[in-house]
Amino acid sequence: MRRPCAFPVVPCPSAGTPTTTAPLLVGHRGASGYRPEHTLASYELAVRQGADVIEPDLVSTRDGVLVARHENEISGTTDVALRPELASRRATKLVDGQEVTGWFTEDLTLAELRTLRARERLPLVRRRSTAMDGRYVVPTFDEVLDLALRASRETGRTIGVAPETKHPTYFDSIGLSLEEPLLASLRAKGLDRAGSAVYVQSFEQANLRELRVLGAQVHLVQLTSAGPTARPYDHVVAGDPRTYAQMTTAAGLREVATYADVLGPDRSQVLPRGSTGATGAPTRLVADAHDAGLRVVPYTVRAENRFLPAQHRRGTDPDAYGDVSGELGELFDAGIDGVFVDQPDLARASRDGASR
Ligand code: G3P
Ligand code: CA
Repeated sequence: MRRPCAFPVVPCPSAGTPTTTAPLLVGHRGASGYRPEHTLASYELAVRQGADVIEPDLVSTRDGVLVARHENEISGTTDVALRPELASRRATKLVDGQEVTGWFTEDLTLAELRTLRARERLPLVRRRSTAMDGRYVVPTFDEVLDLALRASRETGRTIGVAPETKHPTYFDSIGLSLEEPLLASLRAKGLDRAGSAVYVQSFEQANLRELRVLGAQVHLVQLTSAGPTARPYDHVVAGDPRTYAQMTTAAGLREVATYADVLGPDRSQVLPRGSTGATGAPTRLVADAHDAGLRVVPYTVRAENRFLPAQHRRGTDPDAYGDVSGELGELFDAGIDGVFVDQPDLARASRDGASR
């Protein structure tokens, strides 16, 4: 069954109809090319640089508060390892079947987490951002929502929010389910309504379905990974053999469209890379997803040469910027409806320049 589509920034797709409006720009972890990711400073800059939507990844504290971090293990993006008072919290755990050692949000109360300061995740690539190490706290989801609401008032634009539930099966297993507090926060701020510029993402499938059962009115985004055998972790736990590759066939996409509004693929699922690292012709994914009634918002375009397709790299420094407009232009030409970006200013210039 096809769900009714309501996409506030760009209109809904219909079979065979190309997108005619500007693709949505999602500030990936804020403006993470310029600021330590998932900080209020990073989100604020993303808005000022023209992002339509800001993206907090969400994990839980020990006392059940949703906070913005890419993983529940936080030694790579905070100064927790330098805190002697928290040294005893270092632990090794199995998270989504992988052994992980470090400090975990679920072992800290919000008050304890707030004593930490954020750090740049990629200090050797984004050296300038390390100048801001130590300045910012880890924000709560509520604070990110407040920022988006305030920024919408101040700019006169609708600033959307795309929260991603991280490791939902794992958090269920330790009694810190993510979906209920997520909906509670959205509802407390009047954001869980049809047409709201909220896009809840997950690499898992069961928790998106659960959100519908819980009555969520917001857009749901099914994220998918590339690779022939990759599959959602809830499928692994349930013994469900379906892979992301199967979920992104024409038939698989029609099934995704029964509960989700948007597909968030790895960008290589739209523009596959060959053996040289260059992208070639687009796959059928965008057309098939549109036929199923899904929008397509791939992740993640980054301006540094090391992340770009080979034909868009410039010079030999892997950390210098290449021709990010070249990659974005190919994705726009492939018919995408939005894109996750680390440098919203460059994406905005590419998008708006291309549409003139
Ligand atoms: O949510 C889109 C994209 O952010 C998914 O990858 O690992 O950056 O959260 P990740
Ligand atoms: Ca994400």
